[in-house]
Amino acid sequence: MRTRTEPPGIGEAEGFLPILRADGTLTDVIELTTARLLLRRWRPEDREPLARINADPRVMEFFPAPLSREESDRQIERFERHFDEHGLGMWAVERRDLPGCIGRMGLLLAAFPAPFTPCVEIGWMLAAEHWGLGLATEGAREVLRHGFATLALDEIFSFTAVANARSRRVMEEIGLQHNPADDFDHPNLPEGNPLRRHVLYRSKRQDWLRNSDR
Ligand SMILES: CC(C)(COP(=O)(O)OP(=O)(O)OC[C@H]1O[C@@H](n2cnc3c(N)ncnc32)[C@H](O)[C@@H]1OP(=O)(O)O)[C@@H](O)C(=O)NCCC(=O)NCCS
Repeated sequence: MRTRTEPPGIGEAEGFLPILRADGTLTDVIELTTARLLLRRWRPEDREPLARINADPRVMEFFPAPLSREESDRQIERFERHFDEHGLGMWAVERRDLPGCIGRMGLLLAAFPAPFTPCVEIGWMLAAEHWGLGLATEGAREVLRHGFATLALDEIFSFTAVANARSRRVMEEIGLQHNPADDFDHPNLPEGNPLRRHVLYRSKRQDWLRNSDR
C-alpha cells in the first residue's frame, strides 16, 4: 500500500493512488472553513451557479474557452470523483454570510506532460462579483495548510497563463515562489495561443513550515 511519504500518483493520470493521512488511512475531510468561507463537497444545487461562473467571459479570460452547461456539470462530477478516488479535490466555495456556491477552490492532481508533473496543484475560481475582497487569498491559505499540515504533501504547485495577474497575486500572497526558469508552455494549448505560456509557482512543506506563523 502506498504511504503518504511516496509522491502521489507518479506516472499515469488514471492510476493515481489515494493520498493518505499520517496514520495510513484515507483522508475523510469533507470541508474546510475560514473566517468568511466554507469549502465543501458539491451538491446538485451548485450546478446552476457553477455553470454561470464557468460561462462568464471575465472569469474565463485566462482559460481556453467558457464552458457550456453540460461541460460545467461534468466538471462537478469529475471533482467529486477526484475526492472519492484520491482523498483530495476541488471544493465548492460558499460565503458563510450568503447562501449558495460562489466558486471553486482546492487541490487537484496534475499529470499533463511537463517537467514538474505529476504533482498536486492548488487552484481557485470565484464569481466576479466576489473578487477584490481577499476571499481567494483567505481560502487558498487554508487549502495550503490542509495540503501541508493534514495531507503532509511534500510540495504544492500552482500555474496559470503569464498574464493572469490576479491569480499570480494570490499565489504570491500565500507564499508560493516563482522561478522564471520554471515557466513552461502548457501542452494542452496549441502553439500560437496567447495563453500557452505559463508561470509556475511552488512551495515545499519545509518552506511553508518555516515561513508560516501557524
Ligand atoms: C484569481 C481570483 C480567484 C482572485 O480572487 P479574489 O478573491 O479577487 O482575490 P483576492 O481578493 O484574494 O486577491 C486578489 C489580489 O490581487 C490583487 N489584484 C486585483 N486585481 C488585480 C489586477 N488586475 N492585477 C494585479 N493584482 C490585482 C488584489 O489587490 C489582491 O491583492 P492584495 O490582497 O494584495 O490587495 C479571481 O480573480 C478569479 O476567480 N479569477 C478567474 C479565475 C482564474 O483565473 N483562476 C485562476 C486560474 S489559475
